[in-house]
Amino acid sequence: MKRRKLIAGNWKMNGSHKANAELVAAIAARAPELGLVEILVCPPAVYLESVGRHIGNAAVALGAQNLCEQAAPGAFTGELHGAMLAEVGCRYVIVGHSERRALYGEDDSRVAQKFLAAQACGLTPILCVGETLEQRQSGQTEDVLELQLGKVILAAGIQAFARAVIAYEPVWAIGTGHAATPAQAHEAHAFLRGQLRGHDAKIADSTRVLYGGSVKADNAAVLFAGEDVDGGLIGGASLKAADFLAICVAAQARAAG
Ligand code: 13P
Repeated sequence: MKRRKLIAGNWKMNGSHKANAELVAAIAARAPELGLVEILVCPPAVYLESVGRHIGNAAVALGAQNLCEQAAPGAFTGELHGAMLAEVGCRYVIVGHSERRALYGEDDSRVAQKFLAAQACGLTPILCVGETLEQRQSGQTEDVLELQLGKVILAAGIQAFARAVIAYEPVWAIGTGHAATPAQAHEAHAFLRGQLRGHDAKIADSTRVLYGGSVKADNAAVLFAGEDVDGGLIGGASLKAADFLAICVAAQARAAG
């Protein structure tokens, strides 16, 4: 099955009205020639609505970086319900990013709740999984991936992955400039797809698995060459239009080839 490439920019806690407007204008201008790629930007929540206005009718999707796990709105100071994110134009939301797991105490069960909360509001969750350096060095990579993905499959059911994206983000590659080698990425992606296949072959064939962790203009093509790599979740390089667009061009070339 042909899975449409997805290039997602996770802006993390970066941006300003001025910088966002310039970045979105540059991406939107090139979107028509990148039609084989789905382009997504995930700004900080406070900018979602204005970034949505900058996108206008351009073929660029909007996503959030996080949401509250609660099923209903209410007394949860500082939190954002999925329905609110959907109302301001989000189609996607990142869940379980390693920074949220490591810095904000999100465990697998909280991540699974967020995945469910996203889908209940019609948002497509981008579920991030990935091992730390210590886990990789002690040979636990596959165990970690199996557990992180398995917890969500258990909570949501395998059919929920018809409306979800997985992002393999090895923690040691995030923001370090040391991306996984193509072989390491391809191995992990094949493993994750194999986990899905153990439950449902159709879901395994249709679910997109993105790679994230120091994707740059100069390594995107080799990382995307892997059969099971369906695009990227881009941090630092998503903040510069030229870099982000070069990564989109690499994905477009892969999709066309
Ligand atoms: P970098 O591309 O900056 O390594 O970040 C990756 C990431 O965490 C995307 O979610």
